[in-house]
Amino acid sequence: MKEQPIGFLDSGLGGLSVVKEVKKLLPRENIEYFADNQRQPYGEKNQDELIDYTLQIISFLIKKKIKICVIACNTATAASLKKAREFFSIPIIGVIQPAVQDAIKKTSNKRIGVIATEFTTKNEAYPKEIKRIAPKIKVFSNFCPEFVSIVEAGKFTAPKTYEVAREYLKPLKDSQIDTLILGCTHYSFLKRAISDIMGSGVILVDPSVSTSLTLKEVIIQKGILKEEGKGEENYYTTGSPKKVEKTAKIILNSDNFKIQKVKLEELEQNI
Ligand code: DGL
Repeated sequence: MKEQPIGFLDSGLGGLSVVKEVKKLLPRENIEYFADNQRQPYGEKNQDELIDYTLQIISFLIKKKIKICVIACNTATAASLKKAREFFSIPIIGVIQPAVQDAIKKTSNKRIGVIATEFTTKNEAYPKEIKRIAPKIKVFSNFCPEFVSIVEAGKFTAPKTYEVAREYLKPLKDSQIDTLILGCTHYSFLKRAISDIMGSGVILVDPSVSTSLTLKEVIIQKGILKEEGKGEENYYTTGSPKKVEKTAKIILNSDNFKIQKVKLEELEQNI
């Protein structure tokens, strides 16, 4: 069991923000990462579609013998974490709960901002979870649709990225938040631009950090930590392996991984 890989899934490369943190904390673990690029953006899908996609991908990863799964996507977590936990017997971790706990600890003025995809924002996944734990906190949200394609193209600090970000972040700047949750794993790669625009008075909460800490805790508690050897990385995409490889190399700062194309028909047979 200890030797079995950890599974990750996202609509694309956003979940690599979680992988990067996990590699620092758990460097010996094997990784199986699924990027559903062909069906991206998840933020524009409905709940039924998102549940189907998530269950299909976890089934695929279970065939790769994963011991635990991280839904490294806020949208898929909001739509389908509950269903996935009912459906599968392996432990499944989402990104929303760890981020909320982190943000509640960090805010002093009790005003938290959340930027996320359209689905996560309209589903109110973050405000609901924050209010459940700390009802007095005020939550301000906005969705930032163009961020996902900007990140997939690797344009993290381009002038156009700043221009788009300024527009999306304006209402949040006006609402005097002191903490901002990056509620989409893609947004982690835009931290520099977001921080430049929001200013030093706003703490950015990146779910990838708190999620990887939660993952480590669960792995240790279940006695499934891989203690020896080097970690191997396998990547799968429903999109173009070439495109994924190009941006993944920049993000991971390594080319020590394999990428395979998975056809949607193969995925759809899984559920
Ligand atoms: N990275 C994803 C998230 O955390 C979804 C991006 C998308 O495909 O819309 O929500």
